[in-house]
Amino acid sequence: MHVVREVTDQLTWIGANDHRLTLFENIHPIPEGVSYNSYVLTGEKTVLFDTVDWDACRQMLENLEYVLDGRDLDYIVVNHWEPDHAASLQEVITKYPNAQIIGNTKGFQLAEQFGFQIDEDKKIVVNEGDVIDVGDHKLTFLFMPMVHWPEAMVTLDLTNGALFSADAFGSFKALDGKLFNDEVNYDRDWLDENRRYLTNIVGKYGPHIRKILKKAEPVLDQIKFICPLHGLVWRNDFGYLLDKYNHWASYEPEEKGVTIVYASMYGNTEQAAQALAAKLCELGVENVDVFDVSNTHVSYLIAEVFKKSHLVLASCTYNLGIFPVMLSFLEDMKALNVQNRTVAVIENGSWAIRSGDLISEFLDEQMKTMTVLNDRLTIASRLKDGQEEELDGLALSIKESMRG
Ligand code: FEO
Repeated sequence: MHVVREVTDQLTWIGANDHRLTLFENIHPIPEGVSYNSYVLTGEKTVLFDTVDWDACRQMLENLEYVLDGRDLDYIVVNHWEPDHAASLQEVITKYPNAQIIGNTKGFQLAEQFGFQIDEDKKIVVNEGDVIDVGDHKLTFLFMPMVHWPEAMVTLDLTNGALFSADAFGSFKALDGKLFNDEVNYDRDWLDENRRYLTNIVGKYGPHIRKILKKAEPVLDQIKFICPLHGLVWRNDFGYLLDKYNHWASYEPEEKGVTIVYASMYGNTEQAAQALAAKLCELGVENVDVFDVSNTHVSYLIAEVFKKSHLVLASCTYNLGIFPVMLSFLEDMKALNVQNRTVAVIENGSWAIRSGDLISEFLDEQMKTMTVLNDRLTIASRLKDGQEEELDGLALSIKESMRG
């Protein structure tokens, strides 16, 4: 049975939802699933825009057959060759051998690496800015290297204003019947998963995202639909979405707030983190959240760090170093280019208190423009009643740094 949604009377979403996959890219949890979006245009010519992951192939093929309604497939545009989108391509080619494949040079190189069998005479290689006619529709192409693979490109249908944006503007979370941004409560139900997808998958490439946003400026007024490869199709409120992307891509926090992440072996560092959270709330600081680094998947922590202005890292010392899970979180932040945040440090140790110095060194030397507050709370095994003044001082220092 087909499961499709119309974007316009000639453009149909023929993708699929996946609730069975537990880890996207075998690393990021997706408790709310994910969608693989594929679209087919049925104008004078028929054009398929990207395919889906292997798991969703059967559904996509059924959808395609239904929408084509006996017609042949004339073209397949491949904007992105990563297997969560291209894995089903060979099946489509086998079923529709007359289809010509539109892609760029780097894309066809990747196709070869992945072992796709595509006849040379079926390839149409496009360059950035090319305009090609597919029946009564004109397509143009904008390359967006490293968002998030080197071959990635977007295709704009100049006739109906649909921008096939590949991973850009994509999101975790299955569609489950919905398709458009205005069919959902985006802030309540989608924003967090959108942020977690973007920051973890493409966070490292903020400068590349900014470049593509700049490149797209001249054609923005021609865009009527943003059709990404995962998540919602946007048909209005583009300014809102672009504003979010501008924040994420420029590593600017969306909100003033404090994320406290602690690494605690026996609950003593955790107690200090909780005590600080209580002090901050008493001082009227809003938007304070506390996370156990050992029990929170790092993708959620990364999304938190991209969202908020302030971060507190509270870590015990382990083998004279930073607690391994906290170190791994720091490495992830570095890998994803996190920058421009204000950080306070709480350190703990029972015979050698080293974690604070090491965390500060990491932030100063290995990351960009991280401001480490001078006030640091040092705990020898357990927070003492006599340290309340220090705790107050740290909370005040964080509050002060949030002004302006
Ligand atoms: Fe959704 Fe880069 O693949």
